[in-house]
Amino acid sequence: MKEQNPVIEEIRQKADIVSIVSDYVALKKRGRNYLGLCPFHSEKTASFTVSQEKQLFHCFGCGEGGNVFSFIMKMENIGFWESVKILADKLSIPFDSSSYQPGEDMQQKNLALEINSSAADFFSSQLPGSSVATEYIKKRGLGEKVVSFFKIGYSPESWDKLYKHLVSKGFMPKDIEKAGLIVQKAGDTVSYYDRFRNRLMIPIFDIKGRVVGFGARSLDGSEPKYLNSPDSPVYSKGNILYGLNFSKEEIKTKDSVLIVEGYMDFISCFSSGIKNVVASSGTALTMNHAKTLQRFTSNLMLVFDSDAAGSLATERSIELLKELGIYPKIVPVIGGKDPDELIRKEGPQKFLDLVKEAVPWLKYKLEAAISRHNTKEAEGKSKALRQSAAILSTEKDQIIRREYAKFIAQKLGVDLDAIESEIRRRSYYSRSAGKIDQPKKPLSKDKIAEKVLIKFAAEDENALRLIRSQVETGDFSDEQCKTIFDVVALKSEGSGPSEAAKIVESLDGEAKKAFSEIMLMEFEFDDKDKALNDCINVLRLGKMKKRLADLRREISEAETKNDYPRITALQEEYKRCHSEMRSMQ
Ligand code: UTP
Ligand code: MN
Repeated sequence: MKEQNPVIEEIRQKADIVSIVSDYVALKKRGRNYLGLCPFHSEKTASFTVSQEKQLFHCFGCGEGGNVFSFIMKMENIGFWESVKILADKLSIPFDSSSYQPGEDMQQKNLALEINSSAADFFSSQLPGSSVATEYIKKRGLGEKVVSFFKIGYSPESWDKLYKHLVSKGFMPKDIEKAGLIVQKAGDTVSYYDRFRNRLMIPIFDIKGRVVGFGARSLDGSEPKYLNSPDSPVYSKGNILYGLNFSKEEIKTKDSVLIVEGYMDFISCFSSGIKNVVASSGTALTMNHAKTLQRFTSNLMLVFDSDAAGSLATERSIELLKELGIYPKIVPVIGGKDPDELIRKEGPQKFLDLVKEAVPWLKYKLEAAISRHNTKEAEGKSKALRQSAAILSTEKDQIIRREYAKFIAQKLGVDLDAIESEIRRRSYYSRSAGKIDQPKKPLSKDKIAEKVLIKFAAEDENALRLIRSQVETGDFSDEQCKTIFDVVALKSEGSGPSEAAKIVESLDGEAKKAFSEIMLMEFEFDDKDKALNDCINVLRLGKMKKRLADLRREISEAETKNDYPRITALQEEYKRCHSEMRSMQ
């Protein structure tokens, strides 16, 4: 166990896993534990469990588990010492980071963050001197406060102003290039030029509010309208939701999020007080986006632009979210091409009114399908009916299906029966084509007993003593349980429940996950002592059965050799074992 460092000991004592996890996952108290949606896999029903008493977490969906250090390591995708650093910072525990060596990746990331942050300062400093940029900002209604809050800046019309500035700050050209701010001249390995020139610079932040890249809007009509930072050690487009660093608290509080397309949509919403918002930066949602948002809420509202690209992004996002078991609502943008224009033209209240009108995804899809046809003609009506029945047939909830069938009937002016029979026909096909969930294989009695014993041993000194006197590591059949039992059996005596969080550190990989699962499983026993003895017996019985099987093999071996004295001795032993086993059952 990593005992040597007093900082680790202090973190163990001061850190509360519930409050640390709450920075990333919305947790609700359920009985003794806290429950939330797992940040490590996609799920609709919460199976991510945190125990304050044991200072452990475990997801009963994906199997991930451990203590507060493992949580931060997994969450931030970093090593142990980096997690110590983060936790020490969070808890204001002084930590001499010279005693730890960040990995090479981490050094690259830190450098890219420093360079991006320096660049953001530089772009800010350039803004007041540019009349093009200041006029543009005025025209778009971006006030001083908004500009400074979002750290909006300007990249001068020059080939190397930023480059020179960053080099003068001591950064190496290669590193500036890796951060995405300068570009190598073609056929020339030593010359570079600034990537962003004569553009309004919108810094893109990660969830912690660190600048990881830029969205750069053209000011002179040149293409592309927005030039974005390329992927770098700290930025990848499919992973970043613009503005989440500002809005995450409000998203948690409101338990809902508005997903808009553009940087400007975000800025308009947020600065007019609508703060539970993020921007997807012009793309349909990615799996990563969805998983990130799921950590804060499962109520997603899509607010894409009212153009063809917007509806395509909406359709794609709906399909992707459905796969994750998330059923979004869609906010129609009426009265402007996007939320930014709408808010500026009509005010935030008008936008909020539209948010109230958000349409469930199913209704949105039905309306979109119907609107693609001329339903005044018989052919159009028939196509619209078939397409909407196809959409409805994927809905499992009968009541919802019926309600929407009525909706279609009314909209198309056809009989409810006609729609319902079409849906039935379709659902027959979609059912047989659909996947059937594989039920989880139930654990065998032996496996359960092994787990229960470990739980008893880790939680209760007296139980541990009893178990140690009756059972040894070799009696466990499960390899994971063997490893865990060895560690648990060695734990110091007279320790409290948070000892479990310490045990975790001596386990790695699968054993760690298995241990957190065991510790957070809820067993209900009327009589704990009896349960303990029963489990011990299951293990001893298993051991005995194995011994009997070994004896049978040895007997037949002796028989082939006609070794009669040995046969008799083995048979005696066999009888003894057998009757002992019978007495246990
Ligand atoms: P829009 O074209 O809707 O931009 O693209 P917008 O935010 O309404 O722009 P303004 O109001 O004219 O300034 C939405 C988002 O798509 C991404 C950007 O993130 C933008 O905010 N985008 C758009 C690009 O990355 N590149 C482009 O060339 C255009
Ligand atoms: Mn737009």
